[in-house]
Amino acid sequence: MSGKARVRGAALLAVAAVVLAGCGDSGSDGGGENAASGALEGRGPIKFATGKDTSGNMQKLVDEWNGEHPDEKVEIVELPEAADEQRNQMIQNAQAQSKEFTILNLDVVWTAEFAANRWVMQLPEDQFDLENFLEPAVNTGKYRDNLYAVPVYSDGGLLYYRKDLLDAAGVTAPPKTWAELKDACAKVKATPANAGLGCYAGQFDKYEGLTVNFSEAVQSAGGSILDESGKPTVNTQEAKDGLNFLVDGVKTKEIPDAAITYKEEDGRRAFQDGQLIFHRQWPYQYAQANATDGSSKVAGKFQVAPLPGKDGPGVSTLGGHNFAISAFADNKATALDFIKFFTSEEAQKSNLLATSQAPTRASLYDDPDMIKQFPYLTTLKESILNAVPRPQAVKYGDVTAAMQEAAYSAMTGEASTDDALAELQTKLESLTAQ
Ligand code: GLC
Repeated sequence: MSGKARVRGAALLAVAAVVLAGCGDSGSDGGGENAASGALEGRGPIKFATGKDTSGNMQKLVDEWNGEHPDEKVEIVELPEAADEQRNQMIQNAQAQSKEFTILNLDVVWTAEFAANRWVMQLPEDQFDLENFLEPAVNTGKYRDNLYAVPVYSDGGLLYYRKDLLDAAGVTAPPKTWAELKDACAKVKATPANAGLGCYAGQFDKYEGLTVNFSEAVQSAGGSILDESGKPTVNTQEAKDGLNFLVDGVKTKEIPDAAITYKEEDGRRAFQDGQLIFHRQWPYQYAQANATDGSSKVAGKFQVAPLPGKDGPGVSTLGGHNFAISAFADNKATALDFIKFFTSEEAQKSNLLATSQAPTRASLYDDPDMIKQFPYLTTLKESILNAVPRPQAVKYGDVTAAMQEAAYSAMTGEASTDDALAELQTKLESLTAQ
């Protein structure tokens, strides 16, 4: 994947930050008043709000911290599985200026909104060795050049594929293009025993995951959501080609009907159950699908490749999660130390080993022991470094809702691709113009 894609990703990030930052900026006199610029003081017990921990490793690390800090214990508050629902709960808490959550596990796309509204504290950059982290991940934790959240894990889209089935069908390499992907499915499904398998799925339910998958389809056809100056560019032939990959997939049933309801965990279960030939998914699926405790029918049978695209390799959307400190909470000094502990090299290594989630520290991608255990690490690093960030908008909720609506209405046949994208273009233009 090209240097061009990388440069474009970086340019988009910078521009999106500038152009969309002002949009609906209620931050100047937001709910936090000046709490967000106060000192990180106070020690004692804290609560940590996070999406569902499907691996159990988060609790293990918290237990380790609690063992060493009996007077500054951390308690996990588990929020729902879907990104949008986590965001809603965190926002409700912030708007009520509640002290309940001290640390927030923020999706990379929420930084601008939480920072501009002064719901989270500005963090002292010099207390973190950010030069050792992947740069795109660090950038997601910044708003107007200041650090508000520290990257805990990153995320890049990967193509999981059933190597056993491809081998048996005489397909010797994973597909680099959508045409090759469809061709490989046809060959695998030509065997009667495989005829009922789903060809391809991703995260297509109407939530943040669809924004990710829609953006990836557009980018992988050579298009973009915003251009280099931050202007929306979704009413283009490339964007249509991208969305049509998904729309046509649903029509031909290469994307199985059930997949329109899939979030990450639904797709993971279908893949692990042996129902899918290809699955677009984040790295966390690797460990669970390879589990040999009987929970996965595909352990040892799949491999991971870069996402395919229209005419060559595709371009991932940048995902990941960062830790921030609520402006309204007590015991912020404890929170800062806990973030340092959780983002340390040791904690990241433990997390990689237990969960196969993408670390944010660059060194782990070049560690021969880690590469031996997780051969996809090299592909993943490329995927993350080339990934395109989603728009960094203060009103991100409106931006993502518009993208979800366009993709969902086209995929379910409620709107044509052309109409859905024309409407999205208008909505994004008005959101970026404010
Ligand atoms: C993963 C990604 C996150 C993304 C979400 C969508 O959690 O890390 O960035 O928004 O999936 O479902």
